[in-house]
Amino acid sequence: MVQTRTKGAFDGVFDKVAGEYDTEGVLFFKPVAERLVTHLGVEEGGQVLDVGCGRGAVTFPLAAAVGPKGLVFGIDVSVGMVEALGASVKAAGVRNIQVRLMDGQDPAFAPQDFDAITGSMSIVMLPDLASAFRNYAHLLKPGGTLAFTAPDTRNQVGAWKSGPVDIGRIAAEIPEEVLRSHPMLARLVNGDLLDLSAVAGLLAEAGFVDVAEHREEVTVVADTPHGLVRWTQRHGMRAVWDAVPQDRRAVVEQALIAEATAQADADGKVRFGFPVAYFVAHTPQAGAGGCPFA
Ligand SMILES: C[S@@+](CC[C@H](N)C(=O)[O-])C[C@H]1O[C@@H](n2cnc3c(N)ncnc32)[C@H](O)[C@@H]1O
Repeated sequence: MVQTRTKGAFDGVFDKVAGEYDTEGVLFFKPVAERLVTHLGVEEGGQVLDVGCGRGAVTFPLAAAVGPKGLVFGIDVSVGMVEALGASVKAAGVRNIQVRLMDGQDPAFAPQDFDAITGSMSIVMLPDLASAFRNYAHLLKPGGTLAFTAPDTRNQVGAWKSGPVDIGRIAAEIPEEVLRSHPMLARLVNGDLLDLSAVAGLLAEAGFVDVAEHREEVTVVADTPHGLVRWTQRHGMRAVWDAVPQDRRAVVEQALIAEATAQADADGKVRFGFPVAYFVAHTPQAGAGGCPFA
């Protein structure tokens, strides 16, 4: 049995949302994932590990990039995600993806098994990034690539926003005593749970070289204002919604739908930019001053 290791604010959340996660209404995870695969630049025939694969936003484009001679392992700690992705892979008849229930903190593969490791909006959820990076360094071949994304909330004051949907507005409904008894949730709503400032340094400490970090704004497109608000209940932010007292949820939902409606375009869709951080780092080439991962 896999022991779930996710930053405490998200415990159990992804099993709750797996059925509806990234299935309709809002384009976000897939465009981010496609950019990640472009930044990664993986070669045909490569073997790649996708950590926190969810419903396969990265896994599928990776499989296309490595081609029939390559292989992609998608791992996730959520049983719901693993089952849903396994079913999609089967239905699509894709033969070079294997999905496994496994903790991304310390994936159980042989040393130097992979040309690349990816993780979109997932690796930053791990409870101990420093040790995860050391583990990934061992799993990668010399000259291998680690590439992952995170929501970049660094320029936002206080709680973060999904465009017109102010997560702070939802969080304001959470009773003080709930936040006091759940410090990880408090950190999530304050925007400091996924602290990115230390990431580049941790990668270097784990022995990665050519550590690059850049920020890009992804244009999120929601089919409807209602769909946008519902979408925030179908990904990690469900943790925030679930802490709102039942009798207040509909009220907040309506207020947010009204705000999103006011910002909708003439075609009824809601579009906004969301800042995403992309990290790319490499293990040293064989013979390049001695491999620290041997
Ligand atoms: C926001 S979703 C991202 C899913 C997918 N990468 C995407 O871009 O749509 C985060 C995923 O990370 C998974 N996750 C969280 N902690 C994990 C861990 N310790 N090991 C493996 N997966 C984990 C969650 O179950 C969830 O499926």
